[in-house]
Amino acid sequence: VPLVTQIVRQIRAAVIDGRLAAGQELPSSRELAYDLGVARNTTSAAYDALAADGTLVVTPRRRPTVAAVTPRRRALPAAPPQSAPVRMARAAARLAAVVPDARLDALLAEARADHPFRVGHPDLELVPWRALERALVRRARRITGSEALDLDPRGSRVLRDAIAVHVLRARGIHADAGRIFVTEGSQAAVDMCCRLLVDPGTRVWVEDPGPLALRAAIAAAAGELVPLPVDAEGVRVDLGIRRAPRARVAFVSPTSAFPGGGPLALPRRLALLRWAERARAAVVEVDVEGELAFDGSVLPSLLSLAGADDRVIHVGTFSRLLFPSLRLGFLVVPDALVRAAARLRASTTRAPPVLLQGAVADLLASGQLARHRRRLVRATRRRRELVARELAAVLPAGAHVLPAMSGAVLTISLPAHVDDVALARELGSARVRGEAAAVLPLSSLTTGPARARGLVLGVGAHGDERLAAAARRVARAIRSALR
Ligand SMILES: Cc1ncc(COP(=O)(O)O)c(C=O)c1O
Repeated sequence: VPLVTQIVRQIRAAVIDGRLAAGQELPSSRELAYDLGVARNTTSAAYDALAADGTLVVTPRRRPTVAAVTPRRRALPAAPPQSAPVRMARAAARLAAVVPDARLDALLAEARADHPFRVGHPDLELVPWRALERALVRRARRITGSEALDLDPRGSRVLRDAIAVHVLRARGIHADAGRIFVTEGSQAAVDMCCRLLVDPGTRVWVEDPGPLALRAAIAAAAGELVPLPVDAEGVRVDLGIRRAPRARVAFVSPTSAFPGGGPLALPRRLALLRWAERARAAVVEVDVEGELAFDGSVLPSLLSLAGADDRVIHVGTFSRLLFPSLRLGFLVVPDALVRAAARLRASTTRAPPVLLQGAVADLLASGQLARHRRRLVRATRRRRELVARELAAVLPAGAHVLPAMSGAVLTISLPAHVDDVALARELGSARVRGEAAAVLPLSSLTTGPARARGLVLGVGAHGDERLAAAARRVARAIRSALR
C-alpha cells in the first residue's frame, strides 16, 4: 500500500473511532514528515486527500484540525478479537490460587468502602498528618545532590539509622543500620525472604491460620507449606519439628499470631531457635501486629534473644502505625545475608521513594511517631475492649472471642458446622438491616482439611457508636447462623 494511502487510512480510522476528536490539532505536514521519516510531499498529499473528503480542515500556514465528525465508536469491535492469550510464567499462574478473584476484585475496585472491621484499617484521625506534611515539605526543599543520586539498595541511611533506634526501643533489637533494609511494607520484605530462601519445593513452616499475603509470597516461589496450628502459647513448634524437621524457613509472628493466638511462649521460642540452629534454617519473625503491641505485656522480639542474630530475620511495617498505602516497612537480616539481600534489591525494586523515607525518619527521630504509637495503642486497646464487651454480652454459646495480646485484630471462633464464608458475605452486604461489616472468614486463612471456622475483625478504626452497633450486628448474624 502506498505511503500516502497508509497515512490517509490511519488518520481517517482514528477520526471515525474517536481517537482523534473534532477540533483537535494535528502536526503540520512538515512535522509529520519528520516524525514519520517520509518526504514532505507524501504528508501534504495525505492531508490534501483528507481535506477533500471532509475528514480534516486544512488552512494555509496553520496546522490541520479534525473536522466536526461524530465518531462511530460502535465501529470498534465490542470484544477484543479472540486470540490465544500469552503464555504466563508458572509463578504467575500459581498466584491465582492464593489471591482469589474476590480478593483481587476488592483490591481493584476503585471505591474503598469504609465499613467497620476491615483488617488493617488504622485510625486515620490519629495519624499525625500535619507533622508528616511538614516533614515531607522540608525534605523536598532540602534534598541534597547525594540524596538525589543515592541508590543504596538497603534504603536511605537516615531512615535505617532511625529504624535501628526504633527497633531497639520498641522491640529490644540491637541492629546496626548496615543490616537494615527499607521495603515497601512488610509484604515486600516477606517477598524478599522468599526469593532469598525458598526454592521450588522448599518446605516452609507457617502458622495456620495465617495471613494470605504470606502464603501468596511463598506460592510465588513455589515453596511447600507446612501449616502448623496455633494455640494460646503461639505456634506448635513441636509439631513443626516432628512433621518437617528439615524445613529451610519458618515464618512466625511471635508477638501475636495473626489472626488469633497468644504470644509465642519462651520455651517454644528457645525450641524454635535450637531447631533452626540444627536444621540450618532461617526464622522470619513477621511483626505486623506487634507494632501495636500493648506496652509492657509482650515478650521482646525473637531477634533480641541471645544467639538469634545469625538465624532470625525480623520484618516490621509502618502500615499499622501510620497507614497501609504509605508502603514503608523494613527487614533486619543477619550479616551473612546482607550482600545477597542487597543484590536482590539492586536487581528488583531497589528502595522506596527517598523523600518519603526521609520524612518518616524525621517523625521517628523527633519522637512524634513514638508519641503517636502510644496514643494508637491506647485507642486500639480501648476499641478491642469495647468490641469484645459488646460481643460477650450477646454471643451465643459455641462462639467465643480468642485471646490476643496485641494488635488491632479480634477473632471469633465458631463451631465447625458454621459456614463462615457465607456469614462473612452476608455481613458484607449492605442490604441486610444495619451497616455492612467487612469481616474475614477464618476458614479462608487456613489450609488443610480441619479448617477452623470463625470471623476475623479489624478493630483499629471507627467511633464507639458505630463499632458497638456493628459488633451487635455481627453477634446477631452469628446467633441466627447457630440456630
Ligand atoms: C496480617 C497481615 N500481614 C501482612 C499484611 C501486609 O502489610 P504491609 O502493608 O506491611 O505490606 C497485611 C495487610 O493488611 C495483613 O493484614
